[in-house]
Amino acid sequence: MRTHAQDGRPRRARGLVPVIQLLALVAAPVAGAQSASQGATLFTQRCATCHTVGEGDRVGPDLHGVMERRDEAWVTRFITSPGAVIDEGDPVANALLKQFNGIRMPDQQLAPEELGALYAFFRDCAKKGPGGCKPSPAAKMGTDATSEEVARGRRLFEGTEALAKGGPACFGCHDVRGLGVAGGGTLGPNLTFAFARMGERGMRPLLAKLDTPMMAALYAKAPLEEEEQYALKAYLADVSRDGSKPRTDRDFFYLGLVGMLAVLGFMGVAFNAHTKRGQP
Ligand code: HEC
Ligand code: HEC
Repeated sequence: MRTHAQDGRPRRARGLVPVIQLLALVAAPVAGAQSASQGATLFTQRCATCHTVGEGDRVGPDLHGVMERRDEAWVTRFITSPGAVIDEGDPVANALLKQFNGIRMPDQQLAPEELGALYAFFRDCAKKGPGGCKPSPAAKMGTDATSEEVARGRRLFEGTEALAKGGPACFGCHDVRGLGVAGGGTLGPNLTFAFARMGERGMRPLLAKLDTPMMAALYAKAPLEEEEQYALKAYLADVSRDGSKPRTDRDFFYLGLVGMLAVLGFMGVAFNAHTKRGQP
C-alpha cells in the first residue's frame, strides 16, 4: 500500500485503518466458511472411500465429532502418520486398529492449510448435529465414476433424461466424439477433450455455475443439481479418456476428413469393380 509518510498524505492513510479492520472482521467468517467447503472437497476426494461424517463406520470410523472426542494435536499426528502412532503403542490408535479389523489407515500427505480446512469441515459438521454432513456429490472426482454414473451423464447430455430444473440439454450446442451420426450442435465448442484440458479443477466450478457468456442466460434460473453436475463431469471425463494425449478439435476434424476420403475411395474402388463385373 502506498500510505507512507512520503506520500504527503499520512492523515488520510490513518483514516483508512479502521475501515480495513472492519473489512477484516466482515471477511473472517466468510473465510471460515470457504475453508470448510474446501475441507469438504478434500474429504470427498481423499477420505470418503473409508470414512463418513455422520453416516456410520465404513472401512474406518465415522468421523462425526472427531474434533470434539480427540485433541487437535493427536488428530494431526494420527492423520499424517497413523502407522507411526500405532507402532509407538498409542492406546487409542491401537484400540481403533483392533476395532477396524487390523486395517491400517495409509499415511496422508496434507499441507497444514489442508488439515485446517478439514478441521473446519469436521467442526462445521459436528455443529449440524447427528447426521453430520453428507459430502457434496459434485465434489467427487470425475474419474472415480461408476459406469452407471457415466451412462446417466450421457443421457443428460443428450437429453434422453431431462435436467431436473428444466435446463436445455447440452447436446443442442455441443458435440462429443461418439454421439451418433448427426452429432451434437456446433454453437458451442466440441467437448470431447474439454475434461482433459480443463481438469477436475476447471470443470467442477464451471458445471456448478455454467456462467460463460452464452450459457449463463439459459442456466441461471435452471442450474444443474449436484448429482447432475457429477454425472456430466463423469461422462466428459470418460469421453476424454482414450489413452492418447488430447488432440485439438482441428486435428480431430482432419482425422475425420481423412477417414471420410478413405471411405469414399474404398467405395469408389468397390463401385468400379462392381460395374466392371456387371459389363458383358
Ligand atoms: C484406506 C482407508 C482410509 C483412508 C483413505 C483414510 N482413513 Fe482414516 N482411518 C482408517 C482406519 C481403518 C482407521 C482406524 C485406525 C486404523 O485402523 O488405522 C482410521 C482412523 C482415522 C482417524 C481416527 C478416528 C478416531 O475416531 O479417532 C482419523 C481422524 C482419520 N482416520 C482421518 C482421516 C482423514 C482426514 C482422511 C483423509 C485425508 C482419512 N482418514 C483417510 C482408514 C482410512
Ligand atoms: C445454447 C447453447 C449451449 C448449451 C445448451 C450448452 N452450452 Fe456449453 N457452451 C456454449 C458456448 C457458446 C460455450 C463457449 C463459451 C461461451 O461463449 O459462453 C460453451 C462452453 C462450455 C464449456 C467450456 C468448454 C471449453 O472448452 O472451455 C463446457 C465444459 C460446457 N460448455 C459444458 C456444457 C454442458 C455440460 C451443457 C449442458 C448442461 C452445456 N454446456 C450446454 C453453449 C452452450
